[in-house]
Amino acid sequence: MKKIILIVIVLALVAVGIVILNNKSSTDKAGVTKNNTETTVISSSKYDDINVKTIELRENESRSLLSVSYPVTENVKINKTIESMSQEFIDSFTEISQEQEQLYQNYLNDTGVKSNTTVTNYVQHFDVSFANETYISFVFDRYENTGGTGSNTVFAKVFSRITGEEISLGDLFADDNYLEELSLLSRKQLYKKAEEKSKTLNGTKKAITEYLESNIESINEGTKPVIENFDGLVISDDGMLTIYFDKYQVAAGSEGIVSIEIPLKNIPELLSPTVRDVFSIKKPINKITPLAQQQVPTVDCDIAKCVALTFDDGPSIYTGTLLDTLAQNQVPATFFVLGRSAKIQPDSIVRIVAEGHELGNHTWDHKDLRTLSGSDIDAQLRKTDDLLHSIVGLKPKNIRPPYGAYNNEVLKHINRPIILWSVDPEDWKKPMQEELIKRMTSPKSGGIILAHDIHESTVKVIPEVISRLKNLGFTFVTVSDILRQPLEPGVSYSHR
Ligand code: NI
Repeated sequence: MKKIILIVIVLALVAVGIVILNNKSSTDKAGVTKNNTETTVISSSKYDDINVKTIELRENESRSLLSVSYPVTENVKINKTIESMSQEFIDSFTEISQEQEQLYQNYLNDTGVKSNTTVTNYVQHFDVSFANETYISFVFDRYENTGGTGSNTVFAKVFSRITGEEISLGDLFADDNYLEELSLLSRKQLYKKAEEKSKTLNGTKKAITEYLESNIESINEGTKPVIENFDGLVISDDGMLTIYFDKYQVAAGSEGIVSIEIPLKNIPELLSPTVRDVFSIKKPINKITPLAQQQVPTVDCDIAKCVALTFDDGPSIYTGTLLDTLAQNQVPATFFVLGRSAKIQPDSIVRIVAEGHELGNHTWDHKDLRTLSGSDIDAQLRKTDDLLHSIVGLKPKNIRPPYGAYNNEVLKHINRPIILWSVDPEDWKKPMQEELIKRMTSPKSGGIILAHDIHESTVKVIPEVISRLKNLGFTFVTVSDILRQPLEPGVSYSHR
């Protein structure tokens, strides 16, 4: 932000262009002369072929101030788009400042006191975020202060310099999934930011948890995969994608505009071929299963020797390490998570989904469902579903009841397939490392292995377990891929 503002100030100082001064003196009802001025300056910029047009309005004895800068390029069509967009901003200023001025005059008439909250201040700056022979991208930053409350917005406009057409956000990305992907990437970074911030707070554990919870809620809301949430997306010539979130969008107003950065080279699979060309980014080799392909089973378990690794009771502080191991070995797994734990570690849920694993519902806080009333069973499942949906936009297809325990009453309330297991290494009893590995590496083909990512000792043996199972000829798949579809609601499955 500072950079953009500085550039415009410097430009104004070296302005050697056309200056149009327009003094409009008028007299209002009270007989006070209002010196309204309108100034238009056209100045050069650091780019040979771009000039800066700045319009300044000073009205109502300086209670209404506007300063709008925008680029003037060599392309008439680009200029037209930018000019009309800037004019809309000016029109909105005119409307609002008149309303505010009316309020001011009424207040003055009623009380005889001058109010200082009835001011209106609109500012628009811009900068060039990247430019080459074919494309140019401008980033605009706006400030609107009306009656004492200010808000900032940042947004970009990308144009083809050849046709003058505006390039839509969708054209910068490879497919229609980009909003979902950007949403996940944003949440991952914003959750981390909120968590780091919470560590610097002095307060009780409860206060910090509450702080985190309310942050997560506003992050989830402000990063829903809809285009309005991602209009502050700026690609800069250093190959960085910056996403600006408006004031209040993902955090408290005191945080102002919040932004995150993603190097373009980290998301080659997301970018359109054009953007990859501009930034010389190589075409991606499928390193992890992209979100879009998750529903498509890539392995036929009637032919291949398949096994499904499942992890229960997480996410925990060891889940990150486990996900790293799975990514290094390109092994998909299934996570039956607890809502309670997902709530405090949503970034792990984002990773689970983004990295191609399957998410299952393991209830909110691991109660034996047989001991609960019908409405409590419903709440255990629904609360977890809703939370997971708010984080990653999907609800688990399958359920694993705690302890694998259910009865007829429970079945009435589980309206989805129940996934059990065929191999139970009893990792929670923490057997010796070699013993645990042995128990986990003797499945039959089509087997489902139960493990828990809340135990460090379990997470530690996974690299060796994967290596041995691969040597035995096993292919790793998720539970939905290992079982013959379609699965029936209320039926339990423990192997293929
Ligand atoms: Ni469990």
